[in-house]
Amino acid sequence: MLTSPSVPIAAAATALLEERLRDSENRAQAIIDHMLGGLIMADESYVIQSVNAAAARMFGCEREELVGKDLWRILPEFGDDADELQLSFIEPEVLGSVSEWWGQRKDGSLFPFELSLCAFHYGGQRYVAGNLRDLSELHEVERVKLELISTVNHELRTPLTSIRGSLTLLASGVLGEIPPEAGEMVALAERNCVRLLALINDILDLERLDRRQMEMSRAPVPVATLMERSRDVVRGMAEAQDITIGLHPIAGALLGDFDRLVQVLVNLLSNAIKFSPAGSAIAVSALEVQGTIEVRVRDRGRGIAAAYRDLVFERFKQVEVSDAREKGGTGLGLAICQSIVKQLGGQIGVESEEGVGSVFWFRLPAATAGEEKA
Ligand SMILES: Nc1ncnc2c1ncn2[C@@H]1O[C@H](COP(=O)(O)OP(=O)(O)OP(=O)(O)O)[C@@H](O)[C@H]1O
Ligand SMILES: [Mg+2]
Repeated sequence: MLTSPSVPIAAAATALLEERLRDSENRAQAIIDHMLGGLIMADESYVIQSVNAAAARMFGCEREELVGKDLWRILPEFGDDADELQLSFIEPEVLGSVSEWWGQRKDGSLFPFELSLCAFHYGGQRYVAGNLRDLSELHEVERVKLELISTVNHELRTPLTSIRGSLTLLASGVLGEIPPEAGEMVALAERNCVRLLALINDILDLERLDRRQMEMSRAPVPVATLMERSRDVVRGMAEAQDITIGLHPIAGALLGDFDRLVQVLVNLLSNAIKFSPAGSAIAVSALEVQGTIEVRVRDRGRGIAAAYRDLVFERFKQVEVSDAREKGGTGLGLAICQSIVKQLGGQIGVESEEGVGSVFWFRLPAATAGEEKA
């Protein structure tokens, strides 16, 4: 009897397809199993359906011990409250976002982890899947860093402030005349003390900015007042180099924190002074662009090569190795400016031409008429 050759061919093709499908499934499963990040999937009642090896390791148990368990049982923040978990897991900060949680290991110990949670529908059912990253090490590093910062604060800043006070007193002659040579030594020691204190203050500022612990108000800051106050701070430094600072304010106000914005503008001005030739002029201007105000500091100094224009905003980055020694400073000023401006919802940048000069600018929301009266 003649049989159609298409039947065994179709069967072979189906078998091949099935094998390919199995292969592809196995490969996907192998990737999930070997991933360094944890993966947990739960159904709409938040009962765990599957976990990968990394997630099981994080919770200190076998995968089988987690499958079938209510999700809230391994998230101690919810206690026995499954409803609260259901509510939290539909919050926009949790679903579709990255959030931080505490997990409970099998031995009862707690560990912090980062969760990226998503929801999806499959076969008419709703599921949630979470990507987990253990944050224990990161938290430990953070703890050590905080300890160091607090040591720097108490064990270094406090005695240095008192040493500086004593040196200032000695130099003033209140405690009696000191020979000129000793006077020079005292003045040098005082200058070094001031530099060290400035460095410690900068490091502490950056640390507080990183942890968003620097208090920042959002109030109207009149452009003209900001410019005048900042120029007052650097007046002595500018006069010592015979540099003039011209102010060209506009009538509006920026929305931000007055003291912090003075800190930003003072650093931009002190940089402009440091890197400008004696006798030159610096101009501070402002312009309003689509609901924002841009403050610009233009100098006629040495300028910054294109390759360094982004780098100067990084910590401890100085264009010339000699900048720290010859001009003072440690390369933290612009990093602090950037953190402050960003935290206030603005932008900062530089335009520059080598040998011609630079314009450092920052842009912040303008205070509206109602806010300006407030
Ligand atoms: N106006 C400018 N002209 C030329 N180079 C500049 C200018 N402003 C900054 N730079 C370069 O960018 C570097 C970083 O500036 P930043 O304000 O961060 O640090 P610093 O002034 O060296 O020290 P600090 O501000 O911490 O006292 C400077 O050392 C300098 O090399
Ligand atoms: Mg500086």
